[in-house]
Amino acid sequence: MQTIIQAPKGTKDILPAESPRWQAVERIARELSAIYHFDEIRTPIFEHSELFHRGVGETTDIVHKETYTFEDRGGRSLTLRPEGTAGVVRAVIESGLLNDTGSRVKVSYFGPNFRYERPASGRYRQHHQFGVEAFGVAEAEQDVECILLQMDFYRRCGVKDLALRMNSLGDAESKQRYRDALVAYLAPKKETLSEDSKRRMSENPLRILDSKDPRDIQAVNGAPPAGEYLSDASAANFARARGLLEKASVPFSVDGNLVRGFDYYTGIVWEVTAGGLGAQNAIGGGGRYDNLVETLGGKPTPGVGFGSGIERLLLALESQQVSLPTNARPLIWLVAHGDAARDANWQLMQSLRAAGIRADMDPSGRSVKSQFKLADREKAAFCIVVGDSELAAGTVMLKNLQSGEQASVPRDQIVEKLQTL
Ligand code: HAM
Repeated sequence: MQTIIQAPKGTKDILPAESPRWQAVERIARELSAIYHFDEIRTPIFEHSELFHRGVGETTDIVHKETYTFEDRGGRSLTLRPEGTAGVVRAVIESGLLNDTGSRVKVSYFGPNFRYERPASGRYRQHHQFGVEAFGVAEAEQDVECILLQMDFYRRCGVKDLALRMNSLGDAESKQRYRDALVAYLAPKKETLSEDSKRRMSENPLRILDSKDPRDIQAVNGAPPAGEYLSDASAANFARARGLLEKASVPFSVDGNLVRGFDYYTGIVWEVTAGGLGAQNAIGGGGRYDNLVETLGGKPTPGVGFGSGIERLLLALESQQVSLPTNARPLIWLVAHGDAARDANWQLMQSLRAAGIRADMDPSGRSVKSQFKLADREKAAFCIVVGDSELAAGTVMLKNLQSGEQASVPRDQIVEKLQTL
């Protein structure tokens, strides 16, 4: 016997029983994108490796250690996207959508990302994100619009126990001042840092704040908050965003040491956690990246967005025992006594489907008992039962599988009857 091939480590099949929950979340994401006027964009799942090196940052853990990079048969270095923002920025530049000065583009996306991380509950090597990116507006209203959409998404999905944390690293000058302050703070503790963070001290010190190593966590405890190093303009912008959130009654807290795992962030950044998730409790995060379009070859254009992990959202809902609204239509199962009835049912099934009714049958000629068993297993709501007497009378027997009630219905009225159920 052949050995069974297993799915790669850190990946998960979404099996039929789980699909309705995914579809419900996708439906909510699409509806909200439309309501907030974000249009859908779909970009390739692989890109030239250089995009992520230049966009996400050479020294970030994600690019440094976690990408799936390979050479294709033409000798090009390609990378499976570890996140959605860089590809979206490339696409809006390449397509010319951002060519006009002052152009505003708002897009949303839903799809898989790939990171070579150590698999754990809520941490996978392939995960999915619903995300949005908004280009062309530097004002705090744009950051807040993204946050409101994100929180609305969680609310409509029914997630409870949410916490929104925010920070601002400010413009380039503020960020540099903060970096210097952090290096000065950490310099006397350098020997206590992890090997990775010793390297980060010269390469990219802000990344140390993001480290999960207990030695680094200990060292950064008490580090100065970014807010103290903001330029006046950045501080005013952050204050405006906070004011807009307060007006919208969205609770949040400021975490002066919140940095996120990518180098492209420039101003406000945020992260949302949900209860019931254990260690991997960030269900989404985002921030502003006003230099990224230019870094990737476009005209200087501000941008901001978020990405929200779907697996973690579903895990949170499961542990919070919240069920998603699924709108599956009732399934009608056609059961036949004998060959003539089977042929008639086959025809009737086409008419039901043409009328938009969800219908199925077992065409393999099994016994009536096993046809009913199958209907039960497939969670059919009703059975249509046809035998010789129904054929002769031009009727069908309609049976409600939940209540057990049944009634004879003229064959030419069954479509109409089922449509009103
Ligand atoms: P991120 O924080 O790296 O941001 O990912 C967003 C969300 O994706 C996380 O909060 C988490 O829920 C989920 N996620 C990330 N990695 C994994 C994983 N290995 N397994 C399961 N879920 C995961 C971004 O990706 C940015 N592109 C967000 C953004 C958009 N910023 C601006 N625009």
